[in-house]
Amino acid sequence: AFNLRNRHFLKEIDFSPQELRHLLRLAEALKLAKYAGTEVKHLEGKEIALIFEKTSTRTRSAFEVSAFDQGAHVTYLDPSGSQLGHKESIADTAAVLGRMYDAIEFRGSAQTDVEELAAHAGVPVYNGLTNEWHPTQMLADFLTMHEASNKPYDGLTYAYLGDCRFNMGRSLLIMGALMGSDVRLAGPADLHPPKDVVQLAQEIAGRTGARITITDNPDEAVAGVDFVHTDVWVSMGEAKSVWTDRVRQLTPYQVNSDLLARTGNPLVKFMHCLPAFHDSNTVVGAEIMEHTGMTSGLEVTGEVFNSPASIVFDQAENRLHTIKAVLVATLG
Ligand code: CP
Ligand code: NVA
Repeated sequence: AFNLRNRHFLKEIDFSPQELRHLLRLAEALKLAKYAGTEVKHLEGKEIALIFEKTSTRTRSAFEVSAFDQGAHVTYLDPSGSQLGHKESIADTAAVLGRMYDAIEFRGSAQTDVEELAAHAGVPVYNGLTNEWHPTQMLADFLTMHEASNKPYDGLTYAYLGDCRFNMGRSLLIMGALMGSDVRLAGPADLHPPKDVVQLAQEIAGRTGARITITDNPDEAVAGVDFVHTDVWVSMGEAKSVWTDRVRQLTPYQVNSDLLARTGNPLVKFMHCLPAFHDSNTVVGAEIMEHTGMTSGLEVTGEVFNSPASIVFDQAENRLHTIKAVLVATLG
């Protein structure tokens, strides 16, 4: 049995591979119970603060619905709704919220901010995304791959294509290393993960049996994989000035029908943490496409996004069940 009560979840390595598997099993059980109408409330009377310095649809909704399903209450604090960062330090904010809440979720820019919050809160802190890591997303992604393939976590084979320096590339690398998977990252060399992150992944892989490939060759990355992941080419907080170079650099890594065919796996599935720029259907996506002359999507084409290979909405739903597992395990 695993007791994860009062633990923070700031990055994937905060939990051991055994603890991550426990959270994933708990998520499966909570999902079944919700579907069956037999969910038991484990969090009655708990109060959870949700701090978002960047916007969110899935993460915020998953925390709010999880809390509600489990009998807890939430307070949503957006960047304009608190003094944090403008008129009050992170440490002081943490100390105050820790007196009122049983747990705090934080989405922001620097990983050091969520680490500082955790150091001063005295209650569990969850990272709802920083520039460096997206740990709650990893639980959803792994549950989704497991469900879609019926393979154990150490039997998963997947590629991530795009900017590997940011949260999704780094988290998919480290989570795969922890779970013993076959992980391939592909992007241009200057968008590869930092050396210390690659080294960490290799160290972990030495213990777990994971296989790690980091390459600039998309064909090498996708050969034979069961899953192809990507993420936006321009992340939240990045300036417009990066658009032109970024799109030029990443165009060879676009997930389109031709790329999926090059996996050689007719059953390959497409995954994306979302939001996605697959058509000029969003304000920001349309602006980037127009600015850079791209006509059929950015990181993914509409054709792939809307194809039967796409399991992005199963993946999005699993944000709920997995975030609920984190709350129940750490607070229940
Ligand atoms: N995938 C994800 O974190 O989505 P949101 O930004 O909508 O929370
Ligand atoms: N890399 C993206 C992920 C969004 C969920 C960003 O940080 O904006």
